[in-house]
Amino acid sequence: MTSTTTSGQTTGQATRDLGVGLISVGWMGKLHSRAYQALPWAYPELGLRPRLVHAADTASDRVAYARDALGYERGTTDYRQVLADPEVDVVSICAPNMLHREIGVAAAEAGKPFWIEKPVGRDARETGEVAAAARAAGVVTSIGFNYRHAPAVEHVRDLIASGALGRITNLRAVFFTGYAAEPRGALSWRFKRELAGSGALGDLLSHVVDLVSYLIGPIAEVSALTSTVYTERPILPMGSATHFAVIEDGELGPVENDDYTAALVRFAPTAQGPGAVGTLEASRTIVGPQCGLGFELYGTDGSATWNFEQMNELRLCLGRSGPHQGYTCVLANPHLGDYARFQPGPGIAMGYDDLKVIEAKKFLAAVAGGERRNSTIDDAHAVAEVIAAADASAASGSWQAVPAVPGASFGREPAPVNPDSSHG
Ligand SMILES: NC(=O)c1ccc[n+]([C@@H]2O[C@H](COP(=O)([O-])OP(=O)(O)OC[C@H]3O[C@@H](n4cnc5c(N)ncnc54)[C@H](O)[C@@H]3O)[C@@H](O)[C@H]2O)c1
Repeated sequence: MTSTTTSGQTTGQATRDLGVGLISVGWMGKLHSRAYQALPWAYPELGLRPRLVHAADTASDRVAYARDALGYERGTTDYRQVLADPEVDVVSICAPNMLHREIGVAAAEAGKPFWIEKPVGRDARETGEVAAAARAAGVVTSIGFNYRHAPAVEHVRDLIASGALGRITNLRAVFFTGYAAEPRGALSWRFKRELAGSGALGDLLSHVVDLVSYLIGPIAEVSALTSTVYTERPILPMGSATHFAVIEDGELGPVENDDYTAALVRFAPTAQGPGAVGTLEASRTIVGPQCGLGFELYGTDGSATWNFEQMNELRLCLGRSGPHQGYTCVLANPHLGDYARFQPGPGIAMGYDDLKVIEAKKFLAAVAGGERRNSTIDDAHAVAEVIAAADASAASGSWQAVPAVPGASFGREPAPVNPDSSHG
């Protein structure tokens, strides 16, 4: 069978089917499914055609939705059946955090390459256990660090690597979102230590840590604080709604983790000199910003500012002087990252879901033995170690060194080769 390029030409390349298993049909489960479906039209030259085979969720109405609306061939309430299905070549793990370790290890032991949502477990120990299982099994992994795929972010990374911004000296990065700004916002699994681990720290700052590590390099030291803005919320049964739900008269239960966190960080030194320093913050209860994941990066020769709320705009300052000194706004365009896969001309907004398509592409290209630009379980482990160090610092009030994770390269080295990549 032949496939076609974005310009409509046939490539003559054979098409390979990949059976997809999905574990958990919540928000992320839907987006992973949609991303797999979009892959052949966005990246036809890969010759990959994902087939939605088997979906699992403990909520039976979500299993029915996976079959009837998303198009999975079969469904189950037991995720083990997905992992045991011989027609499932790759698995998306979109379960709540407390299940990441169990399911991630089980997927590795079943020999299935997996795309797992961040933060991969409730703490660094759990992330490390998933990483060890994946390494032992030699399976390709991919993590839901979707923001790193934004074309503007990829472009800033290229500018840093080329030296266009000089040596990065300092930065500010935040994830300010108001998903829990409503005091009657539901007490979903996200607010329970046993189910989620930390709060804004693991849920939101993990994205920030991945983003800045992807742009600059690993974080070496951290000093952090946390606070909880709303200490009680109305109870929500698992799988009945998302964390955006508001319950007016429900019974209240305790919030067990942080709503806000702030960290001072020092990056590891680079070949260009001492490591950058900066501040990272995250809040899930803030009023104003809605999905404000952003950064300001300052280098000796230039600066870059980006925020997901204006995902298609990049503010750049290149050079210290001249008639155009100061910031210029660049709209997303076909020269930046994978933008051209989605839109033919500049200034036509891409969206959040498109980032998941890019993530699916990086995952499946690696599974198929092609380029290895996927984020890896080792990257997730390195992020989890920063979060753990921040958690420990918030408790102790002192600076914490972040242990280095071998194999975590944030895309600077190709992800480790899967010795059995044909398996997928
Ligand atoms: N990458 C991102 O930007 C991003 C955004 C949101 C969520 N996430 C991550 O994705 C994961 C899922 O979050 P969500 O917002 O999709 O959650 P959600 O609450 O929308 O969905 C979770 C689903 O898991 C199901 N579930 C619970 N126990 C299960 C079990 N034992 N087996 C199978 N399914 C089970 C629930 O019934 C529910 O359908 C979390 O780890 C979260 O941190 C990532």
